[in-house]
Amino acid sequence: MFFEILTDAVEKISTECIVIGVEAKGTLSPTAEKVNTATQGAIQALIDSGDFSGTAGEQQLLRNLPGISSSRILVVGLGKKDERKDRHYRKLIKGINQTLAKLKLKSVAIALDGLASEQADPYRQTRLLTEWTSADFYQYDTTKSKKADPLSLEQYVIVLSKEDVEFGESALLDGVAIANGINAARELGNLPGNICTPTYLADKAKALATEFDTLKVKVLDEEKMEKLGMHSLLSVGHGSVQPSKLIIIEYRGGKKDEAPHVLVGKGITFDTGGISLKPGAAMDEMKYDMCGASSVIGTLESVAEMQLPINVTAVVAAAENMPGSQATKPGDVVTTMSGQTVEILNTDAEGRLVLCDALTYVERFKPASVIDVATLTGACIVALGHHASGLLSNNETLAESLLKAGDYASDRAWPLPLWDEYQELLDSNFADMANIGGRSAGTITAACFLSRFTKNYPWAHLDIAGTAWISGGKEKGATGRCVSLLCQYLIDQAELADSDALGDRHH
Ligand code: BES
Ligand code: MN
Ligand code: ZN
Repeated sequence: MFFEILTDAVEKISTECIVIGVEAKGTLSPTAEKVNTATQGAIQALIDSGDFSGTAGEQQLLRNLPGISSSRILVVGLGKKDERKDRHYRKLIKGINQTLAKLKLKSVAIALDGLASEQADPYRQTRLLTEWTSADFYQYDTTKSKKADPLSLEQYVIVLSKEDVEFGESALLDGVAIANGINAARELGNLPGNICTPTYLADKAKALATEFDTLKVKVLDEEKMEKLGMHSLLSVGHGSVQPSKLIIIEYRGGKKDEAPHVLVGKGITFDTGGISLKPGAAMDEMKYDMCGASSVIGTLESVAEMQLPINVTAVVAAAENMPGSQATKPGDVVTTMSGQTVEILNTDAEGRLVLCDALTYVERFKPASVIDVATLTGACIVALGHHASGLLSNNETLAESLLKAGDYASDRAWPLPLWDEYQELLDSNFADMANIGGRSAGTITAACFLSRFTKNYPWAHLDIAGTAWISGGKEKGATGRCVSLLCQYLIDQAELADSDALGDRHH
């Protein structure tokens, strides 16, 4: 699908369908007015007939009207002014895309006059439209013998005013780049555990580096990690025949000596729980336990495509958590790369065990910031459900930046406290700390564990257990959540670092 911005009069655009908006109580948008005039009152007649009132999400398809080039007009309801929140905007776009897919159209021109979303921010409106539309047309068929029908929609035109076209163009470029990262993340997430192994993730990262000159990849095997003392990470893969990997992807868009922003992803390609075996119900969904990894890999792809003038390094800690005669047992004690020892009371709390060594490893980059992303705790779903990713941090400024970025990108996170009071829940009689903290505050104690390895840089942790995929049902699948948030954070950092090089991406 090809996205394009046009400033032409909608009546004259040659396309199979134009999409125009009508506000609540039948108030025509400026473009609807123009189309109404060109078609000798067809839109007003529709409203007068009582068949359409402009309720949020309402749709009416009109065909073969005189006075305009397009053979179809899709009139959509924009509702009242307070029905233009992100969730309304998202629903509206999804509804439009569903209709376009059903009609099997090849081309469309969408002209909503910036009225579909409450902020008057053409960059943001256009970027979200681009991201969401790409997402709506993503189809998983990699492991099906019958492939999905190729997408009929080829040309997706966004009609903007002349003043907005500059913001619109950069929004479209960023939006497409971010959408590509999101779809790459979703694809990796959706692949089954027997295909998407730690080695597969490493190969994907290498393939990405051949695609972009600005990316370099290094993969550490078990032997190298052993030499570095990453015994905690390695302990997780002991029950598996799949070798663990540490995957390092470097993007260099900034100055050579500029401190990188570092993203660390949890890459458990399947989490059975290990000897502390999980119950059977829906265990298949633990193939998604590498979604932290897929979102940082996807983000690097987007960043490379956007050519951001900063340095970003992604590190993926990849392993498969299986039971077996070699597997780590409850009560085993391991020494982490940091030298601190851990009593593994529950082998199902494995995410923190792979992340802690990766977080020690990244100290060598002297990072400007470190953000780890992980499907870390079921408790995060209990706390925040499926809308917000959990955010815990040792740095107020970084936390603020991430919250703001998530808001702007419509990929929100929400903070939980990381107070010292919680730390003692990790006390152990047999090691420096235990890997679990008991029943209460599971998301916080997991972050407390990680905080013991992140003292030397500004760090934030995103728990995406509730946001990374949709469970069960018809819509089951990876979401790519967190790629937009991370991209937005990095766009913001790039603007802070060098406003000249980038120009004004948005307000
Ligand atoms: N990958 C899981 C967390 C998870 C569970 C994410 C369900 C999404 C849905 C993680 O490795 C895990 O098993 N965590 C345990 C920690 C506990 C043993 C302290 C959990 O959340 O139950
Ligand atoms: Mn687990
Ligand atoms: Zn896990």
